[in-house]
Parts: sequence; C-alpha cells; structure tokens
Amino acid sequence: MNQVNVGLCGLGTVGTGVVKLLQSHADEIKYKVGSEIQIKKILVNDIKKKRDVVIQPEWLTDNPEELVSNPELDIIIEVMGGIEDTNLLLEKAIRNKKHIVTANKDLMAVHGQKLLRLAKENNCDILYDASVAGGIPIIRSLTEGLASDRIQKIMGIVNGTTNYILTKMTDEELAFEPVLKEAQELGFAEADPTSDVDGLDAARKMTLLANLAFKMEIGLDDVEVTGIRTISQEDITFATSLGYTIKLIGIASIHNGKVEVSVEPTLLPKDHPLALVKNEFNAVYVYGEAVGETMFYGPGAGSMPTATAVVSDLMDVVKNIRLGITGNEYIIPQYEKQLKENDE
Ligand code: NDP
Ligand code: HSE
Repeated sequence: MNQVNVGLCGLGTVGTGVVKLLQSHADEIKYKVGSEIQIKKILVNDIKKKRDVVIQPEWLTDNPEELVSNPELDIIIEVMGGIEDTNLLLEKAIRNKKHIVTANKDLMAVHGQKLLRLAKENNCDILYDASVAGGIPIIRSLTEGLASDRIQKIMGIVNGTTNYILTKMTDEELAFEPVLKEAQELGFAEADPTSDVDGLDAARKMTLLANLAFKMEIGLDDVEVTGIRTISQEDITFATSLGYTIKLIGIASIHNGKVEVSVEPTLLPKDHPLALVKNEFNAVYVYGEAVGETMFYGPGAGSMPTATAVVSDLMDVVKNIRLGITGNEYIIPQYEKQLKENDE
C-alpha cells in the first residue's frame, strides 16, 4: 500500500493542526509508516471561510457523503465535535469500512463502546488518544505501556481551559470572564465552554480513562462533578494566603471492585507537583499495582499538541492496515456481554 487516503471532518483548531503536521512532517511520517498519507477531502460547515493553512480548494466540501461514502478513502479523521449527528456519520463511515481517528471525548464518552464494537465487527480501527489530555499520550500509555499492570488509581488535571483560567486568576489576579474569553481565542475551550467550566469535559475524559483502566462500564452519571464557576477571587486569595493552590482535579480509583470517579476543585499545597502545572498544561498520575506511581505531563489542549496525538493515531492505523491487524480495539467485556444479550 503506497498511499493511504484520508478524509478529514473539521478544519478548526485541531483540523488545521493536523493538516499542518501532515505537511511539515511528511517525510518523517512516510519513513515511519511506509506509506504516503494523502488528504483527499475535508468536511467543513462553511466552504467559503478563509483558512489558515495551505489546502487544495477541491478538498473542501460541506457534504458528509463525500467522505463517509467515498470509496477512495481509507481513513476518516473526525475533529469537528458534536455527539449525535457525528455518531451517525461515523457509524456510516465504519459500515463503509473506513477506519476512524477521533479527538472527540464527548462522542466517545457517550457512544464509544458501541462504536468500538461496530468497528470491530467491520474490521476497522477506531483510535482516540487525542480525546484525553491533548498532546499527552495517556490513552496510549494505558492501552500499551502500562497494559500489563493492574491500574489502581488515576488522578490529575485533564482540562486545559479551566487550568488556564485558574492559573491566570491565581498568578495574575485576572477575572474569570476575560480569561475564559482568552482561552476561547487560543482554541483551548470547547465550542460550548460551559462543558469546560462546569467540569463536564473533565468528567467525560475521566470516564474514558476509568473505562480503559478498570475495564468496567463507567458512565457520566457515575461521576461526582463540580466545576470552577463558583470559585471566586476571594477563594483563591484565601487559599494562597494559607499556602494552597486551587486546581480542578479528576480522580478515578478502584477498591474491592468498586470504582469511584470524581472531578472537583481541590486545595493542593502550593509545592505539590499538580499545583505547579500551569496554563493549558495537563498532568496525570497513574498508580499501578506493579509499576507504582507514574506521572504524565504536557500540553492538554491547542492546535499542534492535539494534532500530534491525532496524527500518531493515524500512523498506527496505517501500520495496522499494512499488518492486517485492524479491528482489535478495547471493548469492556461487561458491555460486550450486555450488547450481545440485547441482540438476542
Ligand atoms: P473548532 O470549533 O475549532 O473546529 C470545528 C471544525 O469542524 C470547523 O472547521 C467546522 O467548520 C467543522 N464543523 C463543525 N461542525 C460541523 C458540521 N456539522 N458539519 C461540517 N463541519 C463541521 O473545534 P476544535 O478543533 O477545537 O475541536 C474539534 C474536536 O477536537 C472537538 O471534538 C474537541 O472536543 C476536540 N479537541 C479539541 C482540542 C482543542 O485544544 N481545541 C483538544 C482535544 C480535543 P467551519 O470551519 O466551516 O466552521
Ligand atoms: N476544551 C478542552 C480542554 C480541549 O480545555 O482541555 C482539550 O480536550
């Protein structure tokens, strides 16, 4: 397979980064996967919008069919966001034997298990490392590097926007609203930033990590979530005066087979490693029975860091196609059983 053809859904913050990375690192990528990766179609809302990246005008379309039903395409990269319509689009793409790479945690937290199963039935890959902690390969670490261990606990900062806001409120005493606007302008925030601010984005990411780590079906309803909307400048000043920093911390742990997941603003001593994680950066501790404590740190949002994770997943799919080992992604056994019962 000398060339792999890709359809890209979305050319915003992440999609633009993906195109730029594929262009700037083309030789490196081709050397590592042994095939040329060629974008053939890009789905957007507005084909007339001015774009911040060099593309062929004929790549752009506002018709999803030109991607999901296009026999020329091998892989669909989904970086447009949304849940229900996007789910239908990806289901159709998988039925048409397209492999999927996505950065969409909202979608994966709600429909991930069904999509993974459909992908397996169709011998397709669906990889989603970019959906948690942007440029940090945390999903990849749970499914590969730490795969041999039993994970006991995951704890960390998994939302860049709220960490950016809390950092600016703490270090520069800036007000919440203008800093949120700045995070939106920098491309860190979700289309609807309430999911960042109210902790839902972090909760979705923690369920994805918990599902992978504990191989149990954990839904959003199982997560205790509190966002940062009610944190005032007075709270921050008071915490600082006591030697503490406020961070939005996600925790997922398992004790005697019972999983607990929470996302909430937490007081940390100001010299705690997580207290030192600034701006849009994320950091995640993973505690394994055999490995002990590990920590992952890096940019949790933004165009190029997220694109790095997307393109690395894309490269894995290309390698899997070449090796003929697609369709082997992680499905929770308990969920698989439940789906089978529903089928019967
Ligand atoms: P943007 O809002 O910047 O870009 C979205 C893109 O998708 C735009 O190009 C838009 O078209 C297109 N689009 C949206 N809806 C549709 C639709 N219904 N039909 C056709 N095109 C559509 O989003 P981001 O790049 O920030 O995020 C994309 C995904 O990546 C989301 O799922 C997000 O959660 C996830 N993510 C984002 C990160 C970040 O740092 N931004 C980090 C990790 C994950 P047009 O340009 O014409 O408006
Ligand atoms: N809005 C998300 C964040 C993007 O701020 O972390 C990365 O998933």
